[in-house]
Amino acid sequence: MVHPSSKQDEKTQLVDKRHPKESKKWCLKSATKVPLKAVLSCYLAGKLKLGCTLLVFGVWILYILKLNYTTEECDMKKMHYVDPDRVKRAQKYAQQVLQKECRPKFAKKSMARLFEHRYSPDLPPFVKEAPKVNEAEYKYDPPFGFRQFSSQVQTLLEILPEHDLPEHLRAKSCRRCVVIGSGGILHGLVLGHALNQFDVVIRLNSAPVEGYSEHVGNKTTIRMTYPEGAPLSDLEYYSNDLFVAVLFKSVDFNWLQAMVKNETLPFWVRLFFWKQVAEKIPLQPKHFRILNPVIIKETAFDILQYSEPQSRFWGRDKNVPTIGVIAVVLATRLCDEVSLAGFGYDLSQPRTPLHYFDNLCMAAMNFQTMHNVTTETRFLLKLVKEGVVKDLSGGIHCEF
Ligand SMILES: *[C@@H]1O[C@H](CO)[C@@H](O)[C@H](O)[C@H]1NC(C)=O
Ligand SMILES: *[C@@H]1O[C@H](CO)[C@@H](O)[C@H](O)[C@H]1NC(C)=O
Ligand SMILES: *[C@@H]1O[C@H](CO)[C@@H](O)[C@H](O)[C@H]1NC(C)=O
Repeated sequence: MVHPSSKQDEKTQLVDKRHPKESKKWCLKSATKVPLKAVLSCYLAGKLKLGCTLLVFGVWILYILKLNYTTEECDMKKMHYVDPDRVKRAQKYAQQVLQKECRPKFAKKSMARLFEHRYSPDLPPFVKEAPKVNEAEYKYDPPFGFRQFSSQVQTLLEILPEHDLPEHLRAKSCRRCVVIGSGGILHGLVLGHALNQFDVVIRLNSAPVEGYSEHVGNKTTIRMTYPEGAPLSDLEYYSNDLFVAVLFKSVDFNWLQAMVKNETLPFWVRLFFWKQVAEKIPLQPKHFRILNPVIIKETAFDILQYSEPQSRFWGRDKNVPTIGVIAVVLATRLCDEVSLAGFGYDLSQPRTPLHYFDNLCMAAMNFQTMHNVTTETRFLLKLVKEGVVKDLSGGIHCEF
């Protein structure tokens, strides 16, 4: 994922995140936005005809170049080949992970050991009503906190009846989570059956199940996304999923409210999104949650040790973790044992597919402006090597 301008991110995991998605759209936008303005004002002013013509011509050339660049395709279905032996090894490894004894609180304890004083095991995963204002939640601007948004948060909490995992999951004495990233590496490993056996399956942004269930499974316990990432197709929502919203900006609160209340999105709200957003989420209010922003803050500033926001243009700081990494940290709080699948960017292979579901190439990651992929990869590698999490598709560190 590449995130375009300051706002997109990548997708899920490193995949994730705010996606870059639609890089075509994105690149086009970024390539033309400023010159377009210049061209328009130039024409409107009606002066300097020759200058204008040259400018238009220049923009056109840039546009063609950019277009050519971004239409290069890395279509998983066309170009992917996975060695059958590797498929067998991956499947066997996943079954071993599932059959091993589940160790209560293992993930939390390991994180607390590895990141002493930088990981607080008791942070609630989702925002909930508290008798007194939780200052940590309001210390930073979104996505690291809800500073200046306390009334919007209150309004949302009034319509959200539940703030925890559903009862049937809480009742389990030991839970296994798998966080499914969008990485192209997932395609072809035929891990769907194994992934379905986890107690909690976390999917990110728009990463689809429809058409890919052989490789990514068809069970979703949690769909974690910011508004622009929410799947547009109703088929991607199962009536018992949790929809976990990650809120980045002011209109995200308005959007979530409309979704929970099953109301039409006000027109002015729609204008503020950088891509089309879902108009309806076919879930009951009790299935919505708001991610505790302190988890993003902790992931960014404490665990990854990014610098705190220096300016209003937080996108430039490269201090926003991808939604994939945030989900991994969340999973250590929701589950006793945590696995990953579909994680890992191999930037040395620019022409390999970035995602299991679209045509973006790995090279697109080099254009995103929100995330520090190097730091994230190092963090995930540490978790895998220390045995805190298992990497089922081997994109971070292959153990099969
Ligand atoms: C997943 O697929 C299996 C068979 O492929 C089907 O029996 C099951 O109902 C599906 N589950 C969901 C949640 O769609
Ligand atoms: C949302 O409203 C539509 C009618 O506008 C209704 O058909 C649908 O069932 C509602 N969805 C939920 C989850 O209540
Ligand atoms: C990513 O973080 C590392 C430190 O962990 C830093 O050295 C590097 O410059 C950062 N990269 C970018 C592109 O900000």
